[in-house]
Amino acid sequence: MNVFVTGGAGYIGSVCVEELINAGHTVTVFDNLSEGHRSAVDPRARFLLGDLADRELVARSLTEARAEAVIHFAAHALVGESMQNPGKYFRNNVANGLNLLDAAVAAHVRKFVFSSTCATYGVPEQMPMDETLPQRPVNPYGESKLMFERMLQWYQQLHGLEFVAFRYFNAAGASKKFGEHHRVETHLIPNVLKVALGQKEQCDIFGTNYPTLDGTCIRDYIHIVDLAQAHILALAPGKQGFFNLGNGSGYSVREVIQACERVSGRSIKAVEQPRRPGDPPRLVAAADKALRELDWRPKFPKLEDIVATAWDWHRRHPQGYRD
Ligand code: UFG
Repeated sequence: MNVFVTGGAGYIGSVCVEELINAGHTVTVFDNLSEGHRSAVDPRARFLLGDLADRELVARSLTEARAEAVIHFAAHALVGESMQNPGKYFRNNVANGLNLLDAAVAAHVRKFVFSSTCATYGVPEQMPMDETLPQRPVNPYGESKLMFERMLQWYQQLHGLEFVAFRYFNAAGASKKFGEHHRVETHLIPNVLKVALGQKEQCDIFGTNYPTLDGTCIRDYIHIVDLAQAHILALAPGKQGFFNLGNGSGYSVREVIQACERVSGRSIKAVEQPRRPGDPPRLVAAADKALRELDWRPKFPKLEDIVATAWDWHRRHPQGYRD
């Protein structure tokens, strides 16, 4: 298929583009490089520098690419930042995303695949979390993604746009070529590995009095190559709806740090800090629906294997991407 990928220069997008092309698809990447990196774009893809805020450019680019499917990664995605600057999240993730949605309808795109998040559930009442749980976000990031999910449902009902929305749990790891490089790094695993690499003195543990076994937050880490595979499966005709993507195992912040120590063979200094606003204590997926309906089979379910691929990439790219 001709696949139009927004955010294809970003962390998850770059690996998905690589896997799409490996699977025989033709890919156009549309990215404003605000978070992404030009050298993270697979050289086999066509690259368009553009911003989703530019409505006409989005529409023209989509038509010129003869897009049959759109995979929409481009978004702001930091829980903490969204608590400081909610407008940034609603403007980009909702308003700019709507430009893409309208362009997809006008260009008769057959399938729209959206990167949503488990942050749409807020603080869940039930664990592990399936897709039927109530969605009550506790940060503007999660709210902005939920608003887009709702728009998708209306566009499906009123314009017949077929969509798959993936609610990712915590994306981690790397492929051989592409890995995680945010200009301002706030994510746990890369920050912990920076200490192992000797680039930072210590890492932070945000909150040690959560109602969990060791007092730190629990997350479900999912390898980005496994995330990418789910997107490819979603392109098949008839696949529709909302799917959680996670491994179903939760690891605390302290357990992640220990896994990084084991994988790197280095000791990692961690400092206890206050809670970070907007963080739910525990998020663990029940991803049975994706396993059942998409025949999705994660290849890297173990945390240590996920961390090992991240460690390998960071060691080979200690400064990340050059641009
Ligand atoms: N954390 C630390 N120290 C750090 C960084 C993070 O203790 O230096 C903690 C956080 O407080 C949180 C956990 O580690 O409890 C994971 O934090 P991340 O920043 O790595 O990831 P988040 O869970 O906040 O968010 C990520 C993505 C979101 C996505 C979400 C789904 O950034 O886009 O996973 O859970 F929605």
